[in-house]
Amino acid sequence: MRLKTEPLLDAATIRARVAEMGERITADFAGKPLVLLTVLKGGMVFAADLMRHLDLDVELDFIGVRSYDGFHSQGRIEWTYKPDVDLQSRHVLLVEDILDTGRTSKAIIAWIEAQGAAEAALCVLLDKPSRRVVPVTPRYTGFTIENRFVVGYGLDYNARYRHLPDIYEFDDNPC
Ligand code: XMP
Ligand code: MG
Repeated sequence: MRLKTEPLLDAATIRARVAEMGERITADFAGKPLVLLTVLKGGMVFAADLMRHLDLDVELDFIGVRSYDGFHSQGRIEWTYKPDVDLQSRHVLLVEDILDTGRTSKAIIAWIEAQGAAEAALCVLLDKPSRRVVPVTPRYTGFTIENRFVVGYGLDYNARYRHLPDIYEFDDNPC
């Protein structure tokens, strides 16, 4: 399997959009200390760039779930890491690489709310709305894309390609 030669989203396009998102989030959360909860591992690259555009009091933590193996969502969630920070009465921004069926985000948001958070806002770099199975609407979306499996900028295929600065589709897309 090979990646397409031209990226779907190149690094400069991503960089500009992430900066815009950071400005929006900074304005929306002005005066509110924020817990930036990054979904491992895919959200890591996006969160690292996004947080440097947040002019806010930011506390960083992570949440780990496994919900996806290769190309097709398994429809089940396994917790691999729970955050250290107490989320009671906190404003939480959940940062994810991609919103697909919605199962992962829905489960994590329910868990954040059960911890007594003041709010849980979802921020995704990519959204594939055509794949949605459970209703989830992100407050912040970087790019809306077609039903294509994508890799790079944190996104993997079986743990590979996360380090690529651009986002690519495969040449022979199985979706
Ligand atoms: P759900 O279906 O729960 O899935 O919304 C979200 C998780 O699925 C993974 N995912 C992808 N990973 N390229 C990837 O590298 C993709 O095109 C893709 N689509 C879904 C991802 O881990 C996300 O957090
Ligand atoms: Mg993945």
